[in-house]
Amino acid sequence: MAHLDADIDAHLRATEDARLESYKAFLRIPSISALPDHADDCRHAARWLADALTEAGLEHAEVAETGGPPIVYADWLHAPDAPTILVYGHYDVQPVDPIDLWTSPPFEPVVVGDRILARGAADDKGQVHAHIMAAAAILATRGRLPVNVKYVFEGEEESTSAHLGPWLTAERDRLAADVVIISDTGFFEGNLPSITLSLRGIMYAQIDVVGTDVDLHSGVYGGAVQNPANALSQIIAGLKGPDGRIRIPGFYDDVVPLSEEDRSAIAALPFDEALYQADLGLPALVGEVGYTTLERRGSRPTLDVNGLWGGFQGEGSKTIIPAHAHAKVSCRLVTAQNPVRVFEALRAYVEEIAPPGVRTTVTLLGSGDPSLTPLDHPATRAAARALEATFGRTPLYIREGGSIPVCASFGSILGLPVVLLGFMPPDAHAHAPNEWMDLGNYETSIRTIARLWAELVDLPR
Ligand code: BES
Ligand code: MN
Ligand code: MN
Repeated sequence: MAHLDADIDAHLRATEDARLESYKAFLRIPSISALPDHADDCRHAARWLADALTEAGLEHAEVAETGGPPIVYADWLHAPDAPTILVYGHYDVQPVDPIDLWTSPPFEPVVVGDRILARGAADDKGQVHAHIMAAAAILATRGRLPVNVKYVFEGEEESTSAHLGPWLTAERDRLAADVVIISDTGFFEGNLPSITLSLRGIMYAQIDVVGTDVDLHSGVYGGAVQNPANALSQIIAGLKGPDGRIRIPGFYDDVVPLSEEDRSAIAALPFDEALYQADLGLPALVGEVGYTTLERRGSRPTLDVNGLWGGFQGEGSKTIIPAHAHAKVSCRLVTAQNPVRVFEALRAYVEEIAPPGVRTTVTLLGSGDPSLTPLDHPATRAAARALEATFGRTPLYIREGGSIPVCASFGSILGLPVVLLGFMPPDAHAHAPNEWMDLGNYETSIRTIARLWAELVDLPR
């Protein structure tokens, strides 16, 4: 810890136990945005956050209604000559199924060694909490922040942030700032401090194949009618070639190819592919021909079936021709692909290859644009200095395959650059059973954020 921050560090040491209790209290709220039954829990989490922000010494805490889970806003604006930072995070979490694979209940946080285990511990409640705790520590020791800060915490990120864009547009004047800091990404393999330079976008669709009103006897009708499950399988099989290339005409048209410079930067990352494969327990890694594993997973577009159902799922056998079959299909997108254009291309291609004798429809369920942060932006460099000062090593610059749909909206709606300064360990089991956060990452991230506010005082405006 640098000498400059000794008072803040001392305060943080003295308040560590209370902070952990507060972190746990936040994790106990089952704010699952995807499930309507948890709408009240989302509101509860929003109110909890507004109270925590106020308690930290931040001002104008507000729970803003949007039609979806509320958006929480707060600010501290008493540094007239300093820049203004907009902090974004999300308090909603993913569903917890399959529940029986959790070693402890997902909303009863437990500390095991240096890990805290709970849904949301890493994605993204732990990082939202760290931001509030950083502000609380600076305000408690110094009475003021070195920069102006505006906080926007939403509760719908895990279900594509449908209400956030309109809210950002409506609140544009109030949200004026110089840069956005998002802590909702992670460190590189081996838990190495990293700054994320890009996120992929997403297009999420459902394919429905419908035959008869009810299932048919497969002996009586089999051979005479189209089988929706067979038809769906045929469609899915047509979407991608054995070379890993997506067959939708025009799919790659807008893809900005990786430069030689990008490719060598990616190749220089300390990535142990054999270990990565071994950790996954897979017999082989596969993907688009002509690209490395890191390129495939961060910088190339994908098409994946996320769910597939239809027909008889029980034990034993039942001889039917299912009435209908369905698939959830999503594409991760890279600059400058447009999710809606990709959806139209998917729909046109599915229509073209759909077998006769059934009705096939394709519906768009959600979308988000890809986004990019320039490496040489002064705020990116300030974040790198803050990481180095607190974690003790220069960060890596990585490209993340995941998506934060709102990230691109900060550029397109508010005209702001975004720095992705996230602290999740790479194997945190986000979205999976037994999600965990490294308590060392969490504690040090609070110091990083405090340090970053000091580093940003001179941000050119
Ligand atoms: N925080 C993640 C995105 C992420 C995960 C970035 C890991 C970097 C490393 C975010 O909460 C998320 O899960 N996003 C969804 C978006 C989707 C629901 C539209 C995703 O990527 O699947
Ligand atoms: Mn997240
Ligand atoms: Mn997530």
